[in-house]
Amino acid sequence: MTAPTPADKFSFGLWTVGWPGRDPFGDATRPDLDVVEAVHRLAELGAYGMTFHDDDLFGFAATNRQQQIDRLKAALDETGLVIPMMTTNLFTHPVFKDGGLTSNDRGVRRFALRKILRNIELAAELGAKTYVLWGGREGSEYDLAKDVRAALDRYRESLNLLTGFVTDRGYDIRFALEPKPNEPRGDILLPTIGHALGFISTLDQPDLVGLNPEVGHEQMAGLNFVHGIAQALWQGKLFHIDLNGQRGIKYDQDLVFGHGDLMNAFALVDLLESAGYEGPRHFDYKPSRTEDIKGVWDSAAANMRTYLLLKERAAAFRADPEVQEALQVAGVSDLGKPTLGEGESYEDLLKDDSFDPDKAAERGFGFVRLNQLALEHLTGAR
Ligand code: GCO
Ligand code: MN
Ligand code: MN
Ligand code: MN
Repeated sequence: MTAPTPADKFSFGLWTVGWPGRDPFGDATRPDLDVVEAVHRLAELGAYGMTFHDDDLFGFAATNRQQQIDRLKAALDETGLVIPMMTTNLFTHPVFKDGGLTSNDRGVRRFALRKILRNIELAAELGAKTYVLWGGREGSEYDLAKDVRAALDRYRESLNLLTGFVTDRGYDIRFALEPKPNEPRGDILLPTIGHALGFISTLDQPDLVGLNPEVGHEQMAGLNFVHGIAQALWQGKLFHIDLNGQRGIKYDQDLVFGHGDLMNAFALVDLLESAGYEGPRHFDYKPSRTEDIKGVWDSAAANMRTYLLLKERAAAFRADPEVQEALQVAGVSDLGKPTLGEGESYEDLLKDDSFDPDKAAERGFGFVRLNQLALEHLTGAR
């Protein structure tokens, strides 16, 4: 298998490889990572892009804002790495304890919007095409403490303001909402892909707003990530994606891509590659706090290698004649045929008595055999 290259469009959040391992129970296990070092190492490993929150680059106080932007720009020039996506930190500073765009405190809401607007100006300057909104603190622990309908009004007001801003300024930027069911809030607004899709349809400029779904976040809600991504693609809303690994319904693990539900990851890569998804393959993972700096870069490389391995295995799976035959038996491509014939009406359908349900019920679909063939390709047995 070949090593990752920029053509593969792999990108990483600065906060991922830069995570020093601080968690609610323990101190950092690694030193802070400088942005220039991160850009150089990611480029060496074959990534094409890096993404970041405003605070990742220059901190909340932003005293060295311009200096850090200049250092980043120089590193990008030296390596050819690009910034395809940017986002705002509306969760670390205590002012955001009840959220940013949907805080019960109006002053906080205005401050949060200003923080986003300022960072969008920088995103436009750096050429980022996608602006992610992850509402980690938009939510509640106590049902009576948040008027959810009013919060959704404020969320919509914010998105309408932001899309109006990029339109007026002529920026080539689209927004991507990132659903998550919980953590850090007890319950987060727009918890799943489906909730976010429903919300987007109520906006002034829905074409400018899509999704940045994350593997682990849908799995934390017990949902099938591949189904969610398929629907996002079907609705033209997969603007960006956060790849990682998660094992079941528990806290957000942010494992390396494939280190959770591997079969689902295999089907995901198969889907992204066959559906012609052209956006970044963005990894939002955390190098476990057991790892030293070498482990950080090994785990970054592991994400890309896993993706490429799965891509290779998915192509072999599709090319296998036995798989083709199993797909045939399973009727997978038959689902692409419209249920009614051309020019046929419900009147014609009502008159059609030719179908024998008992006979049709005898059919075995062979889905298990098909899945086993997938597993055999995945494990390298075929
Ligand atoms: C999380 C989220 C974040 C977002 C990031 C970009 O669970 O912590 O996934 O990592 O992706 O804030 O918006
Ligand atoms: Mn996550
Ligand atoms: Mn996370
Ligand atoms: Mn994420």
